[in-house]
Amino acid sequence: MESGTVLETLRSLEEEALRELGTLEDIDSLETWRVAYLGRRGKLTTILRSVGSLSPDLRRSVGAAGNQVKTLLEEEQARRSDEIEELEVRRRSSLRAIDVTLPGRPLPQGRLHPTTQILREICSSFTAMGFQIVEGPEVEWDKYNFEMLNIPRDHPARDMWNSLWIDQQDADGRLSMLMRTHTSPMQARIMEQTKPPIRLIVPGKCYRYEATDATHEWHFYQVEGLAVDEGITLANLKGTLYEFARRIFGPDRKVRFRCDYFPFVEPGVDMSVDCFACRGEGCRLCADTGWLEIMGAGMVHPKVLAGVGYDPEVYTGFAFGMGPERIAMLKYGIDDIRLFYGNDLRFLRQF
Ligand code: DAH
Repeated sequence: MESGTVLETLRSLEEEALRELGTLEDIDSLETWRVAYLGRRGKLTTILRSVGSLSPDLRRSVGAAGNQVKTLLEEEQARRSDEIEELEVRRRSSLRAIDVTLPGRPLPQGRLHPTTQILREICSSFTAMGFQIVEGPEVEWDKYNFEMLNIPRDHPARDMWNSLWIDQQDADGRLSMLMRTHTSPMQARIMEQTKPPIRLIVPGKCYRYEATDATHEWHFYQVEGLAVDEGITLANLKGTLYEFARRIFGPDRKVRFRCDYFPFVEPGVDMSVDCFACRGEGCRLCADTGWLEIMGAGMVHPKVLAGVGYDPEVYTGFAFGMGPERIAMLKYGIDDIRLFYGNDLRFLRQF
């Protein structure tokens, strides 16, 4: 072989290897490159190995040139390896980099359901007056929902509550369990468990076997109230509920109490506030009466007190019950109770 040809091959090999080296961007392809040129069967190694078969003169010059190329390629490989490492560090840190000058991403923000909002408002107006909050079961015994509230079986007063019964019979084969039709059963449950003084409110869900329309739902909330102690009078009832009405509907509201019938109170009343939309003059909201009915109330019936073991000669009390959805409807001018359960965001976003 001629020394010129071998030296040329070496030069073009060097050129090719360096060109390729410059394009490599990761450690794996750098290793592949090393094996292809400098490995045991690499292109350069093959040439250097063939040097032994050359004449002594050629051997010297080709050998020297070959070793020069080898050293150069090894040096360049080390340099490229450093560059690639640096490149990778930069790549990794750019993935982690945070541009603190970018405006923050808006987080979707929820809000409380209007029923929850009004419940909290009602509850805090009573807790401010020293009432405790208690909750009770939504599935209730006939005993608490009716009997202990002076509503015996087969009494026509039961017609005031269309009930959803549970398929559960007592020893006489009569249905004895239902979805509570009001929160009043908690009056009996609490009095049974504690001694006066009692001041509490009971927010909770109630159920009725009822066709729905703009003012009726088959499931809805109530807030019950009960205060029992020695010497409680109708004046305490009026004062407490008057203060409540002013807290919810504004400081210059007037209130009105009229006789009404509920089996578990005597006397029973219904309470109204003067219409805040027309200030009592008469409008669509108050059906031209100037008044808005907001709840039922009364003095706890002596039979109810006796039924839980209290002496009606010693203890007296007042009770009340309201529908928070109705309170919210009046307060915010909502004209359909079904909106509270429709999950329509166009409605819910307004609160
Ligand atoms: N529980 C009654 C109802 O659902 C509302 C009620 C009226 C509750 C008078 C009371 C009350 O505590 O004294 O219709």
